[in-house]
Amino acid sequence: MSQILHGLAVQTEILLHLKPRIQKLSRPPGLAVVLVGHDPASEIYVRSKVKTCAELGILGETVRPPETATTEELLAIVEGLNRRQDIDAIMVQMPLPGHVDTRRVLEAVAADKDADGFHPTNVGYLVAGRPAPRACTPAGIIELLKYYGIPMAGQHAVVLGRSDIVGKPMALMLLHENATVTICHSRTRNLPEVCCQADLLVAAIGRTAFVTEEFIKPGATVIDVGINRVTDAAEAARLGRAEEFASKGKTVVGDVHPLDMARVARAYTPVPGGVGPLTIAMLMTNTVELAERHLCSA
Ligand code: GUN
Repeated sequence: MSQILHGLAVQTEILLHLKPRIQKLSRPPGLAVVLVGHDPASEIYVRSKVKTCAELGILGETVRPPETATTEELLAIVEGLNRRQDIDAIMVQMPLPGHVDTRRVLEAVAADKDADGFHPTNVGYLVAGRPAPRACTPAGIIELLKYYGIPMAGQHAVVLGRSDIVGKPMALMLLHENATVTICHSRTRNLPEVCCQADLLVAAIGRTAFVTEEFIKPGATVIDVGINRVTDAAEAARLGRAEEFASKGKTVVGDVHPLDMARVARAYTPVPGGVGPLTIAMLMTNTVELAERHLCSA
């Protein structure tokens, strides 16, 4: 029987430890989330982030420019948030509309208010192994592995995907935990063979059930970062989600084939309920850490 790694249990533990730290501060930590337009998935993520803020006693503010907002308008919003004393952390929800210069907007967020760890200064600190806000999803995965006592040191970790949000920071964080790290991607030759060498496989490639049994070494730990909507009944059935599909007309599946993962891995994160809750927990952690920094240097 394989072990299911529940993100919610880890989230609960992380949030529990944040509460007393928040209560010690002279004012509530402040997180501003910039949500451009009405992308349905982003709306759901942002609502759940703001709700968690309220539960913890963090000031969670959503700024909602229209879909048509220009790069210059978004830069002005971010610069306004940079100047506000009550805002410790700023998150610009991705993806931004196609006409916006995403890099310019992300780099406008002050490095000491960077809730996502995306600013080049903080990426540099991550490379150097120095304290700074860390990208939330990979930081949450490290916390999950520690919580469940899954060893990283000396293990061969394979990260499938090279995004700035997950793949690259994940590889660096695993390296700092003394894993031997391979990064692979859509252009890697013999992808299944490379992945199959992993003691720890992190799938973050954004393709529905792309990772199947020939990618997974029997007994490996598999972390599935993907969140993919399946709207085709036959595909849902093939992925073991026929029942859910019949009742809801859709299902959400990760980057790993759920049936293969459950059969071959020793331990794995389910989708949903695995990695998702950790991203929120680490966003809250980054916000509290930034507030602590601002308030002790005030
Ligand atoms: N969209 C999907 N994941 C993320 C994330 O971690 N941060 C931001 N800002 N947007 C996202």
